[in-house]
Amino acid sequence: MKTELYQKRLTPTATTRIVKPAAYFILLLLTYTVGYLSAPSSTSQPQLTSAVTVTNPSPPSSPGDQIPGSFRVTTSCADPIPSELVRQTLLDRLFNGSSPFQDFPPEHAAKLLRPTRVKGWGSNGAVFENLIRRVNPRTIVEVGTFLGASALHMAELTRKLGLQTQIICVDDFRGWPMFLDRFKNLPMVNGDVLLFYQFMQNVVSLNKTGSIIPVPFSSGSALTMLCQMGVLADLVEIDAGHDFLSAWTDINRGHRILRPGGVLFGHDYFTAADNRGVRRAVDLFARVNGLKVRVDGQHWVMDS
Ligand SMILES: C[S@@+](CC[C@H](N)C(=O)[O-])C[C@H]1O[C@@H](n2cnc3c(N)ncnc32)[C@H](O)[C@@H]1O
Repeated sequence: MKTELYQKRLTPTATTRIVKPAAYFILLLLTYTVGYLSAPSSTSQPQLTSAVTVTNPSPPSSPGDQIPGSFRVTTSCADPIPSELVRQTLLDRLFNGSSPFQDFPPEHAAKLLRPTRVKGWGSNGAVFENLIRRVNPRTIVEVGTFLGASALHMAELTRKLGLQTQIICVDDFRGWPMFLDRFKNLPMVNGDVLLFYQFMQNVVSLNKTGSIIPVPFSSGSALTMLCQMGVLADLVEIDAGHDFLSAWTDINRGHRILRPGGVLFGHDYFTAADNRGVRRAVDLFARVNGLKVRVDGQHWVMDS
């Protein structure tokens, strides 16, 4: 009886001794298993660390090897044509061999244009003279011309310095949506604001028809065409679309048509347009290509 009672009293304690640690062990095991399954691993979705993620399908041997290749805009430009052939080549290919300024203005537009109407933004900044004096350019490509303020300023600078420079003005001459809110008295004819004609008129009035050539197309197609024709520039100025994507593509295409030793530069490094889109595009391009960005007034400058 005593033994029975003793055994009865003993039995629960012995069981507890065995079961309790086992339960703890199982609990511990479960905790680890759940934790392991819910933890991020190399095979789960990548975690985004910034707004832009760059994926490398195969790891590059060095960052510089692969990334610029991924951003390639076209395979190659044609062999460069000599600077002295640039003007005639463009006239031949774009204007059937004659100057677009010939017999300008046409009768239907003449009465709508002002003798001169020039308006720009930072168009007379010191950067233009600084770069023209340093580079002595034979060919300048301006991407974004509007009424010609900066192009006319550069034309005057090169004349004063006795340079034989051609300034190629790439612009679709459409401005931007609603730009008439700020330029109320530009005439509109059937939805066309005559920006191209007023620019042409300014060039004629200021006697710069021999040094300025308009290329009235979108920046993408125009810069690609210049590259394919082998028209390279000593200076390329970027001042068209100010959102990140526009600036990014213009910078990439502009850089491809730079002569060795040429300089790429542009306006509005500091504007808040598209959350500093120009600046982000410039800085990213410089980083990807191992180039340095300098600031000159409101402009950014990147040596090739
Ligand atoms: C800020 S204005 C240029 C101002 C000029 N550089 C100056 O200082 O007097 C921008 C110009 O870029 C042109 N533009 C914008 N996006 C363009 C594109 N994708 N292709 C061609 N021209 C474009 C507009 O028509 C406009 O005339």
